[in-house]
Amino acid sequence: MSKGQTSSSSPSRRRPVRVLVFCASLREGSLNRRLAALAATVVEAQGATAELAHLSDFDCPSYNHDVDVGQGVPPGASRLCERLLAADAFLIASPEYNASMPGVMKNIIDWTSRIRPQPFNGRQGLLMSASPSMAGGNRGLWALRIPLEHLGARVYPDMFSLAQAHQALDADGRIADTELRARFERTIECFLDLVEASKHYPALKKQWVEYLGEKPDAADRVEQTEVGAS
Ligand SMILES: Cc1cc2nc3c(=O)[nH]c(=O)nc-3n(C[C@H](O)[C@H](O)[C@H](O)COP(=O)(O)O)c2cc1C
Repeated sequence: MSKGQTSSSSPSRRRPVRVLVFCASLREGSLNRRLAALAATVVEAQGATAELAHLSDFDCPSYNHDVDVGQGVPPGASRLCERLLAADAFLIASPEYNASMPGVMKNIIDWTSRIRPQPFNGRQGLLMSASPSMAGGNRGLWALRIPLEHLGARVYPDMFSLAQAHQALDADGRIADTELRARFERTIECFLDLVEASKHYPALKKQWVEYLGEKPDAADRVEQTEVGAS
């Protein structure tokens, strides 16, 4: 066993975990889509299951509360909800738009947050970004973290942002710089260790309260969750 490696981090010893992987860009040649695909291969190499999805599967019209009340959530949000509920964790590779997350991503989160049980609650999440800029889109991830944490997702403290992403990926879609590639893979490995632990060795129960002043009888705004339970 190499230095720093734990027995549970060996791919062959990993207990089953499923990770929904998608990128928050609708663009055909998206750098974040390439990063999400790369992350999915690492998830699989680490002995977990990666379920790749496209943001277009979850696309929704602009949130309108009248439509929500009159017609319910659109199919895109229902599909994301189903995919989240079928997974133990999610991994999002998101572009940064104007120092924040893309509006299309926030819109999908808003629609999906209306569904009960609220599917982000208790789910482990890992955030990544890719950008041609030197900061790699990292500021956008701090913005994306806020609504996800508000909804009870357990967003992994470490995030990975690929700077100068248009040059950082080689012809095979891998991160060309070997040190950076190792860091990318190690981040995913450590995240999967946590997902595995929270699913198979749950030790933490939490209560999600949409607004702190809610009374326990506000059934659709207060949910009990065993973190990691599927
Ligand atoms: C409206 C808009 C705003 C952007 N703002 C930022 C920004 O704040 N920071 C940044 O690093 N890149 C910014 N970019 C550039 C994106 O990082 C770049 O287009 C990236 O390739 C988008 O991700 P994708 O390739 O996955 O679609 C912006 C692009 C657009 C279209």
